[in-house]
Amino acid sequence: MTTTIPVRLEERSYDVLVGPGVRNSLPEVVRRLGAQRAVVVSARPPAWVPDTGVETLLLPARDGEHDKRLSTVEELCGEFARFGLTRSDVVVSCGGGTTTDVVGLAAALYHRGVAVVHLPTSLLAQVDASVGGKTAVNLPAGKNLVGAYWQPSAVLCDTDYLTTLPRRELLNGLGEIARCHFIGAPGLRGLPLPEQIAASVTLKAGIVAQDERDTGPRHLLNYGHTLGHALEIATDFALRHGEAVAIGTVFAGRLAGALGRIDQSGVDEHRAVVRHYGLPAALPADVDADVLVRQMRRDKKAIAGLAFVLAGPRGAELVRDVPAEVVTDVLARMPRDRLENLVGATEAAAT
Ligand SMILES: NC(=O)c1ccc[n+]([C@@H]2O[C@H](COP(=O)([O-])OP(=O)(O)OC[C@H]3O[C@@H](n4cnc5c(N)ncnc54)[C@H](O)[C@@H]3O)[C@@H](O)[C@H]2O)c1
Ligand SMILES: [Zn+2]
Repeated sequence: MTTTIPVRLEERSYDVLVGPGVRNSLPEVVRRLGAQRAVVVSARPPAWVPDTGVETLLLPARDGEHDKRLSTVEELCGEFARFGLTRSDVVVSCGGGTTTDVVGLAAALYHRGVAVVHLPTSLLAQVDASVGGKTAVNLPAGKNLVGAYWQPSAVLCDTDYLTTLPRRELLNGLGEIARCHFIGAPGLRGLPLPEQIAASVTLKAGIVAQDERDTGPRHLLNYGHTLGHALEIATDFALRHGEAVAIGTVFAGRLAGALGRIDQSGVDEHRAVVRHYGLPAALPADVDADVLVRQMRRDKKAIAGLAFVLAGPRGAELVRDVPAEVVTDVLARMPRDRLENLVGATEAAAT
């Protein structure tokens, strides 16, 4: 079954298709765009790349943060030019979120913008990275520091791609699905994965339609992310993003409870949802709380002081100037576990 989710952004509107086999819609998408040529940049085997229906250059790529950099954008644009790609043609990305990000940025810059279609192959890329038009690459000074808003012309989330995904990459995406429970999609537990993906994309599409450039409601998508980002850095990325966000989600629940925004059952629901997905809910044993607080002060939502997206009587919202003592106290009360137990959380959840 295919679900079609519209992302409504006036002349930049497009559809996200979710379901088994949706990659085979690519020739129809390319035909509708009127492209004569396509460049497909793929981190997956050539057999995974569907026919485009037009003259095509297939460029192999590698997923991963290492290649998500400006020199890759330059190399890709050079290949586009040598192939003779024009601004009325199309670029297609096929890979994880690192690939959709770097190819998206190349498409945004080539000829000041050429159409791009994403074929995300990781769960995280399907539920998050490929939808919403943010593209970026890393600099040595930090992640995602150079980028552009460039909406794709279509996103094809083929759930058949996910069958080869390693367990931890699945968990990585489930972390983003779990946080949807607290920002407007509370009924996803127990649904088949394609339905969870479609619901998460629908939620994101609605938020992006209200706030394409991240000046307001798009903050909601950062539920669990303030501590999540700090944990990724503090563990030197030993935790995958979705695992760190899961721990951050449990923390956000406890912090909202400590601030009197939700009651104990609301706090407990955070742990229950995260554990339902087999995700970790405790802090790594040897991470220093002061290091986490220092890192959280650098969060892009924090203009001054500490800022979090927190549940409350009006639903989730951005809360600025949260007192450091409360944050420190809630961190001190969080359960702790050894990192190797946390990343094996799936097995523990089954028992
Ligand atoms: N633009 C946005 O709005 C946005 C949102 C969220 C995340 N991101 C970005 O997305 C990136 C993370 O994405 P990711 O987690 O997909 O990382 P990734 O691209 O590194 O992929 C994760 C791993 O999964 C493997 N993989 C992907 N698809 C596979 C498949 N079908 N079968 C087997 N293995 C597969 C990859 O080779 C890689 O090892 C980060 O760089 C992040 O900044 C962007
Ligand atoms: Zn995230």
